[in-house]
Amino acid sequence: MSERNKQTDSPEKNAAGISAAKLVKDGDILGLGTGSTVLYTIKELGRRIREEGLKIKGIPTSFSTEEAAINENIPLTSFSHTPYVDIAIDGADMFDADFYAIKGGGAAHTREKVVAYSAKRFVLVADEKKKSEKLNMPVPVEILPFSKLFVMEKIKEAGGIPVLRLGAKKDGPVITDNGNFILDCDFKTIENPEKTAQILNEIPGIVEHGIFKNVSEIHIGKADGTVEILKKK
Ligand code: A5P
Repeated sequence: MSERNKQTDSPEKNAAGISAAKLVKDGDILGLGTGSTVLYTIKELGRRIREEGLKIKGIPTSFSTEEAAINENIPLTSFSHTPYVDIAIDGADMFDADFYAIKGGGAAHTREKVVAYSAKRFVLVADEKKKSEKLNMPVPVEILPFSKLFVMEKIKEAGGIPVLRLGAKKDGPVITDNGNFILDCDFKTIENPEKTAQILNEIPGIVEHGIFKNVSEIHIGKADGTVEILKKK
């Protein structure tokens, strides 16, 4: 498991993670997101499997999550077996009042997006620090290494500042689970996430960007252990 996704003791993340795990029912095919918050969901699902006999199959969005799910004895499946999942549960780096989110802090957003968009219900788990009036953090963008300079130029033309993400315990760039690079692209405050997403969608060489538009509900954990649940109308 990566350093970033190690489970730290966080009452907020714990509350959010457990709250979302309650939505999972017998027979569900479940998208398992990546990050420290969804690890609490994975842990709780492991408990439900052991103690309640819950029967589910998970599709992990990263090697890190696959390892965590295996540790909890959560049966796994893949998109070779099914094109859709019943529910996907995942963390976020930031979300706004209109249910737009930025993901990819752990460089897993491409698989996370495939899983999220295949889900009938996409649930975010987060603490209050992830909430923002408007999206204003750099957008992680996974790119083909071959296209780096070209994509960086196009991002600059679109008003962004792209920075190649570097490894923490590796010289040179972060390499994603898919063998690609990540550019963290600063667009300052994103006034129109639909438009920014559209611009990124149209640049060849971009495999996937971290703006998510299909969030159905958000479970926000608080320090006192309570959870605020926001549902998209
Ligand atoms: C992984 O690439 C990200 O999209 C994570 O889902 C996101 O960074 C949330 O992680 P935490 O729950 O650790 O904040």
